[in-house]
Parts: sequence; C-alpha cells; structure tokens
Amino acid sequence: MEPIKVGIIGCGNISSIYLENASRFSSFSIEAVADINRGRAEQQAEKYGIDRVLSVEELIRDEEIELVLNLTIPAVHAEIALAALSAGKHVYGEKPLAITLDEGKQILELAKAKGLLVGNAPDTFLGGAHQTARSIIEAGRIGTPISATAFMMNHGHEHWHPDPHFYYQEGAGPMFDMGPYYLTALVNMMGPAKRVTGSTGMAYQERRISSQPLAGESIIVKTPTQINGIIDFTSGAVASIITSFDTWHHRLPHIEIYGTEGSLSVPDPNQFGGDVFVRGEKDEEWNFVPSQYGHTDNSRGVGLADMAAAILEGRTPRASGDLSYHVLEMMHGFHYASERGEHYKMTSSCTKPQISLREETSSTGLEGDK
Ligand SMILES: NC(=O)c1ccc[n+]([C@@H]2O[C@H](COP(=O)([O-])OP(=O)(O)OC[C@H]3O[C@@H](n4cnc5c(N)ncnc54)[C@H](O)[C@@H]3O)[C@@H](O)[C@H]2O)c1
Repeated sequence: MEPIKVGIIGCGNISSIYLENASRFSSFSIEAVADINRGRAEQQAEKYGIDRVLSVEELIRDEEIELVLNLTIPAVHAEIALAALSAGKHVYGEKPLAITLDEGKQILELAKAKGLLVGNAPDTFLGGAHQTARSIIEAGRIGTPISATAFMMNHGHEHWHPDPHFYYQEGAGPMFDMGPYYLTALVNMMGPAKRVTGSTGMAYQERRISSQPLAGESIIVKTPTQINGIIDFTSGAVASIITSFDTWHHRLPHIEIYGTEGSLSVPDPNQFGGDVFVRGEKDEEWNFVPSQYGHTDNSRGVGLADMAAAILEGRTPRASGDLSYHVLEMMHGFHYASERGEHYKMTSSCTKPQISLREETSSTGLEGDK
C-alpha cells in the first residue's frame, strides 16, 4: 500500500527526531513542512531533504497531504488540529492533546463527525521496555495488578533550560508537562481510570532563572508545582502518582506495579528502552527481563507509524485520541479534586491499547489487531 502522506506543522526542537526517524517506517512519508516561523521550516526541510516548504494555511489546504503531524506548542495544538480536521486531514499531535478538556472534546468530536482519525504522543509506551512490562502483566506473572506507584520529581527547569518560563504557566507544571508519559504508561498496563483525587502545592510563587541567557530574571509561577494524585482504575486497582518541580533529591522508582502474585519494576516512561524487573511472591530477588520487542532506542514517531498503518488497515491506532483525552482528563481531574476537596469522577474511558506482537512488520515494527 502507498504510504500515508504527512505534512508537519511546527518545526521546532522535537521535529528533528520525527524527521530523522521517518525513514525507519514505511507506513508514512513526510512530504511537506510548515511553521509560523518560515525560516525554521526551511532549515529543517534543507537538513532532512524535504522538497516542499509551505505556509501553515497552504499545508492545511494542500490536496496531497492526508495527515497533519502537529508539533506546535501546546497552546496552539487545538487550533491546528481543528483546522486540519476541518480540511479533511487526519491528525497526530505531540503531547498534550490540548490544553483544556473542552478543546480536547472538540477535536475528538470533529474527527468522529468527519470519519477521520486522531492520534497523539506520547508513544514511548510502544517502546521495547513498556511492551515487555505489559507482556509480563498479560502473561499473569504478577497475578492481578492491585496497585501502582509512579514518581516524576525534580526541581524544575530554570537551572538549565534556555527559556524556562513556559514550564510555570497554566497548562504546564510537572503534571501537564510530564504526566502524559506516566499516565499513558499506567493506562497501558492497568487500563482506564474511573475516578481520581489529589492535592496540589506550590513551594515557590516566584522562581529565579540561573541558566543563560535569562539568568537573573524571575518567573511568576501560575500553576501548581507539586501534585500528589490518587487514581482508581475501572479494574478496581489503585495507584499513587507524584509529579513535582519542588523536589531536590529522591530515591523513588519511576513506576512499579504490585500484583496478587508479585511486583513489576518499570523504567522511565519518557524513554523507549530501560530495564524491566519482576519479582514473584517467592523470589529471593528481582529478576531482570530482557526486552523481547523492538524500538528500545529513541523511536519517536512509532505512534505515528502505527496510526498511518491503522488508517491503511482500517483499525484503531494504539496512541489514540481517546487514550490521550482520557489522560488529559486525569491530569485536570487531580487539579479539580484538589481545588474542590473531592474525588473527580472520570467522564471518559478508553480501551487498553493493543499490545504488540514480537514479530516486527516492515511498516511500523509493531504487529497487532489486523
Ligand atoms: N522538546 C522536547 O524535548 C519535547 C519532548 C516531548 C514532547 N515535546 C512536545 O512537542 C511540542 C513542541 O515542542 P518543541 O520543544 O519542539 O517546541 P519548540 O518551541 O521548539 O517548537 C514549536 C514550533 O512550533 C511553531 N509554532 C508555534 N505556533 C505555531 C502556529 N500557530 N502555527 C505553526 N507553527 C507554530 C514555533 O514557531 C516552533 O518552531 C510540544 O507540544 C511539546 O510538549 C517536546
């Protein structure tokens, strides 16, 4: 089958890895690039050998492009996604799906009305490590999962990032910035959530930048920087998650899953690889489980490749719009619950994404529900 023709909107930092990895996948080809800053699009086109540099409007209207890869900043994710869908194009976006739940809902509804597909990053859960972890659960090696923990804690980004302001604005903070990786990984292993609750904090209302070139400037913090959340999954399992920009040091794991017959140690969900360990009820120690799947290196784009294959095969993409909306709702849910002092009942759900089979296919390196 002919590869799906993709046009990129947003040629900033993250676009490089998508452009670099594109040749690994045969289910899509990148035909054109656009950016509100045309110079950036021209630079990336030249570096990666893309023939067509278009304006954003031209790319959205272009008859050849079937799918828009939306790599713009979160604040314009919804605007670009809605414009592309209106023009009859499928959309795959970087995380998060959108800033508000309302925007996220509009994107899913418009796609449905138009018979188009929406997919969204992160796709790290399709990497070798997280597929291996998922396969251990599916094989029953830890029995029934009954709880989980997930921790993403650091001291923020004003000490190294060249322009760290956006991390502390509404729609960012540690949960909206990093939560998608951790929550998507949890849903991949535990299934959808039925309710969440949490408490949020803000250790510093003002933070001073020490990285160049803005050293000395101060940032007024407009979003919680400490979010301690609890998740009740539909399955009956529960999880605790902490995301923090207020923590200097810790010795907590990325993710662990605890089952009726053992425990599972899962590596960084912001990576495609990493070590997975399992320890059964009677085991004396943790056992390393080598990855039985491909994509253990930086395979960003595998979610897009799977979505392009899904379009060609008439199936649901793994990194689906439903999954990313569910994750967006959980992130809002923690903040809502903290403000109101109550649990937030989830209104959305999603199915666990189809696990990969071990055999690699030519187009995506994933194999599944054909
Ligand atoms: N940089 C990373 O390491 C990283 C990692 C994971 C995910 N992401 C996600 O990727 C997305 C982009 O991040 P980035 O780091 O590449 O940001 P960036 O600021 O480097 O690039 C964003 C690009 O979008 C363009 N843009 C902004 N508004 C636009 C509009 N209205 N129309 C067209 N183009 C527009 C900008 O000119 C810029 O070139 C974000 O959603 C981010 O969460 C980034």
